[in-house]
Amino acid sequence: MEVIIVPDARAGGEVIANGIADLLWRKPDALLGVATGSTPLPIYEALIAKVQGGSLDASRARVAQLDEYVGLPAGHPESYRSTVLRQVVEPLGLSEDAFLGPDGSAQDVQAACTAYDRALAAAGGVDLQILGIGTDGHIGFNEPCSSLASRTRIKTLTEQTRIDNARFFDNDIDQVPHHVITQGIGTILEARHLVLLATGEGKADAVAATVEGPVAALIPASALQLHPHATVVVDEAAASKLKLADYFRHTYANKPSWQGL
Ligand code: F6R
Repeated sequence: MEVIIVPDARAGGEVIANGIADLLWRKPDALLGVATGSTPLPIYEALIAKVQGGSLDASRARVAQLDEYVGLPAGHPESYRSTVLRQVVEPLGLSEDAFLGPDGSAQDVQAACTAYDRALAAAGGVDLQILGIGTDGHIGFNEPCSSLASRTRIKTLTEQTRIDNARFFDNDIDQVPHHVITQGIGTILEARHLVLLATGEGKADAVAATVEGPVAALIPASALQLHPHATVVVDEAAASKLKLADYFRHTYANKPSWQGL
């Protein structure tokens, strides 16, 4: 696992967007797995700026959703489908045909989950998966004690996650769904490259447990330790509880430039 400590969220977004630009140069039709929430926004902003500035051609890129609320009406502005279309797909100038996601309004939720795992495999698998992290260590919506081998399935959100996400629903927790579809941890681990961005002091405990704690279902993000190509990008505040912070800084400062992200 590589840990990159950056001064702030904007710098984290830039580092990751540069890595995505390199990937799209090597593989123009790469499948990018995208997370929602506040953390990844600087990545998308940096990526969109490159496309709009003409330094990056992302016209053949494909985008896959990580998770989705269950039961929001189709087209709800806070469904993750609507969010990814608004924040990533449309500003990159991609069509909905380039977008894969689970059907959060399906009658048969488990069938929708299984169909999504199949669709990801049929699309050749995710090349680079962007991840955020919950204050409880979740990735996607794999809450603590999710199986590390899990596939895409329905999960029940913890009350803490519903409280954390109420800001997207007029600060009204009653509007936040209890259930979600999320790529499982086993599904996420199949992506070729995992890139987790964490910013702010509120993520410091979860980051320390993910990077330096034992691999444990209690901290779902710790499963990144099992992946051969995982990159954790953190700002100073989110890095503040890492015991090996100086080593991570030293390693990154001396990284061979040919290595890329
Ligand atoms: C959402 C997702 C979640 C978020 C996490 C952090 O697609 O995958 O794991 O990344 O809840 O959310 P923010 O970034 O809003 O703190």
